[in-house]
Amino acid sequence: MDIILFGPPGAGKGTQAKRLTGALNLPQISTGDMMRAERASGSDLGKQFDDYMSKGLLVPDELVLALFGKRLAQPDAAKGAILDGFPRTVAQAEALDTLLESLGRRIDTVVSMEVSLDEMIERVVLRRTCEGCGQIYHLRYNPPPSQGACGKCGGKLVQRADDTEEVVRKRYEEYLTKTAPILEHYRKKGVVKSVDGLGGLDEVEGRIKASIAPPPPDQT
Ligand code: AP5
Repeated sequence: MDIILFGPPGAGKGTQAKRLTGALNLPQISTGDMMRAERASGSDLGKQFDDYMSKGLLVPDELVLALFGKRLAQPDAAKGAILDGFPRTVAQAEALDTLLESLGRRIDTVVSMEVSLDEMIERVVLRRTCEGCGQIYHLRYNPPPSQGACGKCGGKLVQRADDTEEVVRKRYEEYLTKTAPILEHYRKKGVVKSVDGLGGLDEVEGRIKASIAPPPPDQT
């Protein structure tokens, strides 16, 4: 089963993808997380990613597709994946369709998580992420048990460099012009489910689970 968690910055895609991995027994594939890891490694590719990410701009399709293709080919994604932050353009969505088709798969559900711009900004500027395990916190809505340390692994909590209000507004602009049109691409296939992204984490998780179509018999 292949699922896309879709939505603007701060919609809760990463938070919910992490929660769903256990329940669905599928890996989370987050192109944003992969790019941040590459950037942290100090590689030339990571520096290229940073040129775009720090400005709130989308990374060019050819770089993203190479990164994603390698990840999808890993054994843990053989039966499907929860895609978080990918695809981000219609060209990426079309390339994904072709890739999945070659594997005898298709996108089963696109969960479109809806939140307002004010909510997005508030969520993103108060987000903290664990450097060690990637656990996501919010200083008000989902605070860590002790300030500055991850409740899961004890790792250091950091603020993402692109989590300023100015950069979030740019990311949202990119979302509206380049990413939102993907929904039409998937609506034509009848796989889009809209979910209210406001509410407690358990509440939103329940809505997402209820919206996910059961997998076809040959993809269990
Ligand atoms: P990426 O890392 O994908 O960021 P994003 O899509 O902008 O989404 P975020 O990670 O900001 O938010 P989220 O929806 O995951 O929310 P979260 O769960 O953390 O991309 C970053 C950059 O990388 C892009 O700008 C681009 O440059 C590049 N990039 C990545 N993929 C690309 C691609 N495919 N093509 C081109 N470029 C690409 O939650 C946010 C906060 O809210 C947290 O603090 C959380 O605790 C809190 N929260 C979550 N749910 C709730 C709730 N229900 N109530 C209250 N608070 C909540």
